[in-house]
Amino acid sequence: MRFDVLTLFPEMVEANFQYSIMKRAVEAGIITVNTINPRDYTENKHKKVDDTPYGGGAGMVLMPQPYVDAYEAVEKLENTCTIMLTPQGEVFNTKLCDEFSKYSQIILLCGHYEGFDERIREIIKPREVSIGDFVLTGGELPALCLIDSISRRLEGTLGKIESMEDDSFSDGLLEYPQYTKPRNFRGYKVPDVLLNGNHKEINEYRMQQKIERTKQRRPDLLS
Ligand code: ADE
Repeated sequence: MRFDVLTLFPEMVEANFQYSIMKRAVEAGIITVNTINPRDYTENKHKKVDDTPYGGGAGMVLMPQPYVDAYEAVEKLENTCTIMLTPQGEVFNTKLCDEFSKYSQIILLCGHYEGFDERIREIIKPREVSIGDFVLTGGELPALCLIDSISRRLEGTLGKIESMEDDSFSDGLLEYPQYTKPRNFRGYKVPDVLLNGNHKEINEYRMQQKIERTKQRRPDLLS
C-alpha cells in the first residue's frame, strides 16, 4: 500500500517510519510512504504558501495553487483515495480504517496552523477526516494516526494475525484485561480463572469482562 503525504513538514512525517513496527512495515515492502511539500510547488519568489483571509479575520489561509499543483503532481495508482485531515471531517474509527485499508494508494492532505482555501476542497474533492473533536496545530499527527492504524491491519505488519483479533473495537467491544508474570505483584493477584487452563471458562470470563468494560466506559458502543 502506498501513502503520499502532502505536508509543509515532511521531516515530521518521515521520522515516524524510523522506528518499531512502522519501520519494519516499510522495510518489508508492505507500505511505501512518500512526502510531497507544497512549498516546492509555489510560483512566487518567496515560496509563500499562505496569505491573509479575504473578508478579514484571524490567522492565515493555505493558498490553492501550491496545494493543487502538488496534488496533481502525485502519480495516481488505480485504486486511490484522497483524504484531507481536518477537524471538520468525518470522525475516524475502525469501520473507516477497514474501508481505507482496501485502497492501494492513499493521498493525505495536511494543513498546518491554518485553514485550507475552500477551492482546494472544490478542486480536489477529498474525503475529509477528523481524528476527534479537538483541534491540533496541523494534519501531520492525524495523518500518521491513519497510516499507523491502516498499516497494522495489512497482512504481515503485525507478527501474528491473532494480535489484531483481540483488539478493542474488532468485535464492537473494548478489550478484556490482560495479565502476565508475576502471579502476585504487591498483593495484586492474577484472577484464578486465567491460571486453571480451562479455555472454555477463560473465554467466558474474557467475554464477560469485555461486556462489563464496554458498559462502564463506552455505553455508546453497546447501543
Ligand atoms: N487538524 C487539526 N485538528 C485535526 C483533527 N482533530 N483531526 C484531523 N485533522 C486535524
